[in-house]
Amino acid sequence: MTKIKVFVTRRIPQPGLNILQQDCDVQFWDSDEAIPQEELLKRVHGVGALLCMLTDKIDEEVLAKAGENLRIVSTMSVGYEHIDLEACKRRGIAVTNTPNVSTDSVSELTVSLLLLVARRLYEGIRAVHGGEWGKWKPMWLCGVELTNKTVGILGLGRIGYGVAKRLKPFGIDRIIYHDVCRVSYADDIGATYVDFAMLLSDSDIICICCNLTPQTKHKFNTKAFEKMKNSAVLINSGRGGVIQHDDLYEALRTNTIAAAGLDVTEPEPLPKDHPLLTLNNCIVLPHMGSNTWESRNSMSEIAATNIISVLNGTNAVGEVIPPRSNGL
Ligand code: DGY
Repeated sequence: MTKIKVFVTRRIPQPGLNILQQDCDVQFWDSDEAIPQEELLKRVHGVGALLCMLTDKIDEEVLAKAGENLRIVSTMSVGYEHIDLEACKRRGIAVTNTPNVSTDSVSELTVSLLLLVARRLYEGIRAVHGGEWGKWKPMWLCGVELTNKTVGILGLGRIGYGVAKRLKPFGIDRIIYHDVCRVSYADDIGATYVDFAMLLSDSDIICICCNLTPQTKHKFNTKAFEKMKNSAVLINSGRGGVIQHDDLYEALRTNTIAAAGLDVTEPEPLPKDHPLLTLNNCIVLPHMGSNTWESRNSMSEIAATNIISVLNGTNAVGEVIPPRSNGL
């Protein structure tokens, strides 16, 4: 029997490949770097399944090149804004993601980044390496504590919840959140729903943990920064596009807000001469929220299992668009 062709757009951790190689004819882009779009277009021809990354643009052109055998686009990520969902729906192609398995890693990273920014740790490390560590000074590199603060979470999904749960033991006074709707599990961590304006005005710390959608695109802009406290710390581990970066630069430069920590930016990678990188009160990480072996092995495994499930007509874990036979 001819095996179904699967194209994997990058080198991925072995657990996923092991699963796919049992039943499918697996081809992959043998590199840690993203596949150029023209290569992707060449290599998808005739595949039954495509395992992609969040850096791959899966648009109408890619789907057309793949042709009518394509039954599933499985992304090895939680986010799926790189996939043209409407085009997949029209063609009856299932789309799956890898929810859950990066919740802990991204939540941990978000809290780490918050501590890094709030306690000015990077400036401290730089000072030690740069020979600027002199005699103890009472007002040198003073940051702010999390104790007794109000934490605002934009997007109380799995990661937002994971962040709030981890921050509670720090002696946070209040957790407030804003999302498209109230969520029942907010009570478990004592989080109160507020409108966006109140999230901005009342929070000492804001963690952006939401997806990028037309509603969240550039939600943090000059108007929003002006409503925030001057002492506020902003952390983004959701998607870069939620923040208007030129406006953020101005807000940080003029101390409209105190500091920011970004694990995600717009664009990615952020050019090394970007103005944000000239500021001491802004820490930028290279989108490394889910960079743990635990998460990455599981993401690879789930992305592969989702392909096998859809090809076998059984339920996948993260069905963004269910297969046609499952009700489309
Ligand atoms: C995702 O899974 O969408 C993350 O942003 C990658 O870490």
